[in-house]
Amino acid sequence: METDEANETVAEGSSPEEETAEIDCGPAEEVLKSFPNKRRFLIPILQKIQDAYRFLPPETVEMVMAALRVKRAEVYGVISFYPQFRTEEPGKYILKLCYGTACFVKGAPIIGDKIKEIYHIGPGQTDDKKLFTLQLASCLGNCGAAPMAIIGDDTHGTIDPDKTTELLASYENRED
Ligand code: FES
Repeated sequence: METDEANETVAEGSSPEEETAEIDCGPAEEVLKSFPNKRRFLIPILQKIQDAYRFLPPETVEMVMAALRVKRAEVYGVISFYPQFRTEEPGKYILKLCYGTACFVKGAPIIGDKIKEIYHIGPGQTDDKKLFTLQLASCLGNCGAAPMAIIGDDTHGTIDPDKTTELLASYENRED
């Protein structure tokens, strides 16, 4: 089972003032309309907005602040506390590499090194082509097939550095 502690999905150094491409605020408006404007709904609102955009664009966070009348520090405090929240657009595929005990002893760290060597990313980071965002998981629930990884919706077991290299390359030209 993946745990929050294993993921480092909130990018360091991100701030609401960073320049971003213009976004369609419609989905965030719909989410805000579906909840009462109460502070206690802050987390579910942020979750729904992230579901809609795959991350939390700064414009949408501003909308949440205005609707719930909460301060920037409070909202970003919540966002940075929960590893599930992302303030930067993730890659096309979330690449979850299991770092649980079984996977760790069977070579997950050298697979992590290979990913870093090829895509120059560590936990919580996205490669330059915005293809993969790497997350670490504490157990993906299939220790018998360690080391394990999930790429997008696909589960892969008994991987090694070479297999991982081939596997990730196969996602580079996929149309999905
Ligand atoms: S430790 Fe990796 S699947 Fe359980």
